[in-house]
Amino acid sequence: MKAKTIYVCQNCGATTSKWIGKCPSCGQWNTYQEEITATQKTTTSRITSTVKALKIEDIEIAETNRIDTKNQEFNRVLGGGIVPGSVVLIGGEPGIGKSTLSLQIALNIPQRTLYVSGEESASQIKLRADRLHHTTDSCLILCEVTVENIIPAIKEYNPGLVVIDSIQTLRTENVESSPGTITQIRECADLLIRHAKQYNVPVVLIGHINKEGNIAGPKILEHMVDTVLQFEGDSTHVYRVLRGIKNRFGTTSEVGIFEMLHDGLRQVENPSELLLHNHDENVSGVTISAAIEGMRPFMVEVQALVSTAAYGVPQRSSTGFDYKRLNMLLAVIERRAGFRLSTKDVFLNIAGGIKINDTAMDLSVLAAVLSSDLDIPIDYLTCFAGEVGLTGEIRPVSRIEQRIAEAEKLGFKRIFLSQSHKKNIANIKHSIEIVLVSKIEEVFRHLFAYAHKNQ
Ligand code: TYD
Ligand code: MG
Repeated sequence: MKAKTIYVCQNCGATTSKWIGKCPSCGQWNTYQEEITATQKTTTSRITSTVKALKIEDIEIAETNRIDTKNQEFNRVLGGGIVPGSVVLIGGEPGIGKSTLSLQIALNIPQRTLYVSGEESASQIKLRADRLHHTTDSCLILCEVTVENIIPAIKEYNPGLVVIDSIQTLRTENVESSPGTITQIRECADLLIRHAKQYNVPVVLIGHINKEGNIAGPKILEHMVDTVLQFEGDSTHVYRVLRGIKNRFGTTSEVGIFEMLHDGLRQVENPSELLLHNHDENVSGVTISAAIEGMRPFMVEVQALVSTAAYGVPQRSSTGFDYKRLNMLLAVIERRAGFRLSTKDVFLNIAGGIKINDTAMDLSVLAAVLSSDLDIPIDYLTCFAGEVGLTGEIRPVSRIEQRIAEAEKLGFKRIFLSQSHKKNIANIKHSIEIVLVSKIEEVFRHLFAYAHKNQ
């Protein structure tokens, strides 16, 4: 074996013999790092005849008994529990709660689990475990970073689930680069994945997110594992969302919602509680959106603040809502409704510190901005669900029935929807007042007519 220096793109894994600034394969800048690989002498390949292809009708489907993690939100994102032999990657920013979530699952699952930590000492883990409520005592802790020592331990203890905290701290003797480099991560993950498949032991890998917000840095890891989950939230808030990004055994349209408490993560079964800020009186710039995240509808509060820019260049800021989309909506309001927003500061915030990817939020963002700019409050029992197009048209959104039902359940009196839903609504039984709008001007007219009535 001969050691050789190569340059590896830390984003996509492409290699070159010389350092280059921009990766020709993924287009990222400054991602090349020097790594040492041991090149094996190539031997002439042997041709063997031991592999066999199967006829499709001869293939038997093994009944996959998913492992119940005893955590409904986690099960939901996975599609009903952990599939034996599968490898799940949980990515997230430092401090978001990846270790807490994984330890909580390891402590509550009835099967024996092996929690491998390369980041914390056994006593630190014990301290954390003491904070969490747990029902079983079948969790073993191993503080180790070398894969060559971890795999024999997995064989020896034969756990029903292995947690690796984190993949970036692991190293293998097969490669000489330092831990955290793409070659080490790829090689360590490969060894663990092969073991998981061969012995049917599921593995949860924890991965850090890089500064661009990509999961675990190297994209390559996402291709290797079966399921990729992203744990997100604002660490200054208590709510956390676990989002499926890739799932070979289920849907990616589900999200799990948690609340970080002093004694661990609580499962949030009723996400509408995120908005429960009880306002005694109506305040301007606040609206409620009937949003859907994953498969679940929930009501969420949107807050906007529009004020005259005191210091030259107007500021725009958005928390929990796509910044580019906010700018698009502001441009639509300016052009189609004649509001002068280009000289004003606009701040937008989604209550609860969670990020929502639902275009149905547009209408409530628009209404919140108008309400704040005019300083006229919108009745707190009014909610919105609609997408806003570039011409100022209000477009229909998916699963309108669920949204209406959720709004009704929570006692809302009125919901604004796109005119295009007219036909579907005729078939839906509802007691809530439905206001159908097709243009931004109509929204404006309706809202401020109501506001006057209520004042
Ligand atoms: P942690 O799981 O260590 O995050 P990660 O592994 O993603 O880096 O969680 C870190 C934060 O969570 C830390 O700031 C303390 C807080 N925390 C609680 O609020 N309650 C708890 O019960 C625990 C264990 C942690
Ligand atoms: Mg951690």
